[in-house]
Amino acid sequence: MAKSIPMQILTDSQLADLVSRSSLLEGEVNKPKVLLDANGYIYKFFYQPDRKLSSRTLFPPFKQFVKNSKILLKRNVQTVSICDTMTAEDKRFDAIRYQAIEGHDFREHLKLSGHSEISIITDIMAELHCRGVFFRAIHLGNILHQPNGDYALIDISDCWFSIGQLNAFKRARNLAHLMSYHSDKSYFSRYGNDRFLNEYALKSKLNKASLWFIKAYIQHKGVKL
Ligand SMILES: Nc1ncnc2c1ncn2[C@@H]1O[C@H](COP(=O)(O)OP(=O)(O)OP(=O)(O)O)[C@@H](O)[C@H]1O
Ligand SMILES: [Mg+2]
Repeated sequence: MAKSIPMQILTDSQLADLVSRSSLLEGEVNKPKVLLDANGYIYKFFYQPDRKLSSRTLFPPFKQFVKNSKILLKRNVQTVSICDTMTAEDKRFDAIRYQAIEGHDFREHLKLSGHSEISIITDIMAELHCRGVFFRAIHLGNILHQPNGDYALIDISDCWFSIGQLNAFKRARNLAHLMSYHSDKSYFSRYGNDRFLNEYALKSKLNKASLWFIKAYIQHKGVKL
């Protein structure tokens, strides 16, 4: 997608029609967050913040999402590719449309395929960090596992990119977030937090000092090794 996509207006009656022929994945019928239509397209809605002056006004998540999708795809990280961008008549929300990706989120995948599959996450983290991707909203619900074994990122509004690989500090922050996320931390502790980090370090070809720093930081954040 080389050029920016023109913004369409989504009228209230078009929205009502869309809701009536879609499954509601997140949010409520009168305030949908994520919809899946019968043609396999996802509509994701971004509502204006209540406070006038918030970081979301300065850096709207909607715009960040579109920008990050382009950067991730350029870095060969699979993610959604935006088809359309829309705004409400009264500007109360912006929305994007993209094709649903086949598969389950990783939380679901672990339940279906066994908890040891968490070792795949060490490959994913090593690859993202090697490609300079700091995906701040990382958790097992925002990584899709596709039937062919590939992964894809969703919910990508909050990313930061480095020119080369991520440094040890950014790696540590990202891993700490992933391993201490309330819905997911038991998967890591059951597998072994230390084992998980050692595998990640091996795949990332990290030196001993970096691994020592990452482990110290993660422990400082309350993850027991
Ligand atoms: N491209 C996609 N392909 C398949 N399923 C998707 C896709 N995008 C979203 N989903 C499904 O919709 C759910 C919610 O999507 P998403 O993570 O974008 O929203 P959210 O978690 O509500 O957002 P936020 O974290 O901003 O509150 C996902 O867990 C996933 O099941
Ligand atoms: Mg999400």
